[in-house]
Amino acid sequence: MKVLGIESSCDETGVAAYCSEKGLLGHRVNSQIDLFTEYGGVIPEIAARDHSVKIIKLLEKLLSELNLSLENIDLIAYTVGPGLIGSLMVGETVAKTIAKTKNIEILPIHHLEGHILAPGLEDKDVPPPYLCLLVSGGHTQIIDCKSYGDYKIIGETIDDACGEAFDKVGKLLNLEYPGGPKVSKLADSGDSRRFKFPRALTKDRNYNFSFSGLKTSVLYTVNDSEESDYADIAASFQEAVIDVLAKKVTWALEDTGHQRLICSGGVAANKNLRERLQLLSAESNIEVLYPSLEFCTDNAAMIAYAGYIRKKFNLRNHQTNFARPRWPLGEFYA
Ligand code: KG4
Ligand code: ZN
Repeated sequence: MKVLGIESSCDETGVAAYCSEKGLLGHRVNSQIDLFTEYGGVIPEIAARDHSVKIIKLLEKLLSELNLSLENIDLIAYTVGPGLIGSLMVGETVAKTIAKTKNIEILPIHHLEGHILAPGLEDKDVPPPYLCLLVSGGHTQIIDCKSYGDYKIIGETIDDACGEAFDKVGKLLNLEYPGGPKVSKLADSGDSRRFKFPRALTKDRNYNFSFSGLKTSVLYTVNDSEESDYADIAASFQEAVIDVLAKKVTWALEDTGHQRLICSGGVAANKNLRERLQLLSAESNIEVLYPSLEFCTDNAAMIAYAGYIRKKFNLRNHQTNFARPRWPLGEFYA
């Protein structure tokens, strides 16, 4: 079985082909980051327009480099939500048009299921059960993954996403969007103990997050500081974020009994976060897995793979067949 994957939920246009026998045949991503540097964030209208301009060319390139034609495709899996409505509709229109004209089966995929299953995409199958820490520009969630198709968010942010906090702090420190990688680099030369930033929601044992107070606290500190203090601010901010992520994940692992942790999303690229999770792994005998960086961030390979898994295990179909911008994982089948 060959699956064509299509992803366009936010600011990455992705296409991919996955084969049930050979695994991932190939994928392509066009990131729109450069378009948004001057704005410091994603502008939905521009994102949708760029998907529309790029997606067909991207697909043609992928098919030609793989020597594949649409006639070879048995299933189309596309991201139906959650995400930006205009962006989602571009991928959906392409997916539905191909499916209709070529008479190919089509499966709508929940974007988060793509992230949750991403580790299985590469060399070996990684079936649930496991705990998933998803940390990106749009999400900060701890997900209890019991089996294929059975996912429960047990903790999430009540305000900003973790990557969003990195990006906002990047802006405060005069770093270019997206700030995450630059804040992290600046932090390398800073003292993480110099500023005591808040660790929100860590008194009670729950798995929720809040980063907006931390961001405000960084703002006040920046206002009272010189540029020579910025590396220390970046390091202290990063330490505060990682402390909270590690604490919540430790609790969630203890309480669910999972022996395996999947860490995914753009922030999973953070070196210090990985070091901290490594420590946790060594102390408690937990296996920590990361999808490769290219599959941590938004891509269509994980969507094609999710489609393959849904088909293989005959999972109940979503009743959502139209782009759905808001779609809590709690309403997975609604
Ligand atoms: O998953 P992703 O590529 O996209 C979406 O959220 O759509 O995640 C991007 C986020 C951005 O907020 C970016 O600043 C953050 O991940 N990020 C990082 C690092 N690399 C990317 N944050 C902290 N440290 C990093 N090394
Ligand atoms: Zn994503």
